[in-house]
Amino acid sequence: EKGGYDHFMLKEIFEQPHTIFDCLRGRLDAAEGSLTLGGIREYAEQLKNAQRIIIIACGTSWHAGLVAEYMIEELCRIPVEVEYASEFRYRNPVINPGDIIIAISQSGETADTLVAIESAKAQGAVIFGVCNVVGSSIARASHAGAYTHAGPEIGVASTKAFTAQLAVLALIALKIAEEKGSITQKRFLHLLTELEDIPEKVALALQLNDQVRSMAEKYKDARDFLYLGRGYNFPVALEGALKLKEISYIHAEGYPAAEMKHGPIALVDETLPVVIVATRDSYYEKIVSNIQEIKARSGKVIAVITEGDETIPGMADDVIVVPEADELAAPLVSVIPLQLLAYHIGVLKGYDVDKPRNLAKSVTVE
Ligand code: F6R
Repeated sequence: EKGGYDHFMLKEIFEQPHTIFDCLRGRLDAAEGSLTLGGIREYAEQLKNAQRIIIIACGTSWHAGLVAEYMIEELCRIPVEVEYASEFRYRNPVINPGDIIIAISQSGETADTLVAIESAKAQGAVIFGVCNVVGSSIARASHAGAYTHAGPEIGVASTKAFTAQLAVLALIALKIAEEKGSITQKRFLHLLTELEDIPEKVALALQLNDQVRSMAEKYKDARDFLYLGRGYNFPVALEGALKLKEISYIHAEGYPAAEMKHGPIALVDETLPVVIVATRDSYYEKIVSNIQEIKARSGKVIAVITEGDETIPGMADDVIVVPEADELAAPLVSVIPLQLLAYHIGVLKGYDVDKPRNLAKSVTVE
């Protein structure tokens, strides 16, 4: 049932070219320039005219929400807030009629997320669900939605559900932008092609598996890890750190790279591996400076970079080279080696990576 893999987690990591493909299939056709999202149609007017979108989720799904914030604000020019469901539900949040809530949940059963959307619904918000499990409680409680179609996720740590969420959220952002006319035809078509190419790029990134395993050998005894990224890759840094914590029980923190100098830089010394997601995008020059800052303090830099980068390899201790992608789609590719790194460190330490201690697949209690 593990399809020849040692663990469900590895199987699910390797399924991603297919799961992302399945998620896009029937929805996106770059050659035709067409994008169809059945679930949106009925609420297209509300989405287009939304004054505000509030994204509610927990854990990894919350990280997908952060990426969606960048996507929707860039493409649709609608203000977005991303909320932890547990905080949102208890603080008597301001919800105006017409506000759009996007609830993201793999299981569709997360108690905090479910209660949060129910109270928002009672106050007149439109609930749009992005769930993986068909017919789940959150899917049923939503007015409309789009499934991620990633198939059952058995590994407790979310991997393929995350990339499928990113794919669906990109489609939602693009659809709203198309309806609103807030995107140029050229960028719209370009992004459709970029998304269509993602499964192949993810397959290429998976070929890094052996290299990442050796890197895991080298760093597995570190006590702490720092993960840094900027822009679209900032949530990827958070996700990489969460994966490592869950699977290998190593303390890890994710930060926006520029926040370094406001505190975390005090942690940097020669024992600290710093994973920096530094793919080529509009933040590239800035992140190169952040790498210099860490090297100046003797931190060990593991950089995820884009093919053809000739600058960072001369600075970093280790590089992981991933295929080039538009910055909006880049998280789908750059997260792959971070999933693999957490997996291999967990396995090398002898832990049960499919069922990490203290964690449950669906958190149905608050
Ligand atoms: C992390 C992980 C959790 C879930 C969180 C939300 O690997 O699996 O952080 O992402 O419990 O779960 P869903 O998406 O089912 O609402």
